[in-house]
Amino acid sequence: MNTKIKTGLFGFGTVGQGVYKIIKEANLPFEIKKICVRDTQKSREVEASLLTFDPQEILEDEEIELIVEVISDSDSAWNIVAQALQKGKAVVTANKKMVAENLEGLLRLQEQYHNPKFRFEAAVAAAIPILNLLDDYFAHEPLKSVRGILNGSSNFILSKMYAEAQPYEEALKEARQKGFAEADPTLDVSGQDARNKLSLIALLAFGKIIPPHEIPVQGIDTVSAKEIGEAKDKNQKIKQIAEIMLDENQNLNLSVTPQLISANDPLFSVDEEYNAVLLEGQFSGTQKLYGKGAGEFPTGTAVVADMLAIAAGKYYRYEKLKPELVAG
Ligand code: HSE
Repeated sequence: MNTKIKTGLFGFGTVGQGVYKIIKEANLPFEIKKICVRDTQKSREVEASLLTFDPQEILEDEEIELIVEVISDSDSAWNIVAQALQKGKAVVTANKKMVAENLEGLLRLQEQYHNPKFRFEAAVAAAIPILNLLDDYFAHEPLKSVRGILNGSSNFILSKMYAEAQPYEEALKEARQKGFAEADPTLDVSGQDARNKLSLIALLAFGKIIPPHEIPVQGIDTVSAKEIGEAKDKNQKIKQIAEIMLDENQNLNLSVTPQLISANDPLFSVDEEYNAVLLEGQFSGTQKLYGKGAGEFPTGTAVVADMLAIAAGKYYRYEKLKPELVAG
């Protein structure tokens, strides 16, 4: 008997291929029934019969219970995910831009269609299981701050400029070649990608819906090689820091900015495509989470973890958001 969960995959770029390979290699209980891709000309290392260019072929297939959405275009992603949720399908997405820009709409759809089967761990810090941790383990822990490095490409570029005096453009090119950067790398270097991720963290860490455009942002594209050299001379580094701080009036202050940090900062040693998140809780004290923040397998791992969680009936609890929803 075939007990594998029939799955429709949208996107077969870096992340899609990672997911596909992990499922095969680890023999996980999912059958990728169809893969929807955009480019009809590109050659791909899968049987042609698996491919489709029509999203509806997957969305209208009643046998397909689970949708994995890992495309780069956030508007198309929203159309796919919204339809899938309406049809009662389970959805796993890695699309931080789409989720951050549509938080209210996604929560409303889940409520309206009584469909809680929606997870997006891979959207933040790839292999670091930060969202699951915030939603589950820290569901009742009052957090005071979250501070971290949330964009692998920016961190990779800054690290290469610092350690190897690589020119910015060359480091950016390498980040793209290694599959760390977004299809539009402006999202990485402008800080917008980290800002989208911070918005998702705010939802699960503090129960607040904060649209990304409300978060002040400055990218690493404003940092010069000279500034990086000067920091190095003083045994400091420039890192792109994303942070949420709860102030004494219980207001949240969020920002994404390049910052000069010293050698005793826990984020100082986080280099290349690695990400790290520092959580400060009222009872738990400070936690540091560290891991690969971009790339085929680190991101694929997070997607697969969500697929397995959904298969086990584990959905987000949104504990911190619930009072807001009742009051609102
Ligand atoms: N472009 C993203 C990054 C990919 O560099 O962090 C992982 O979200």
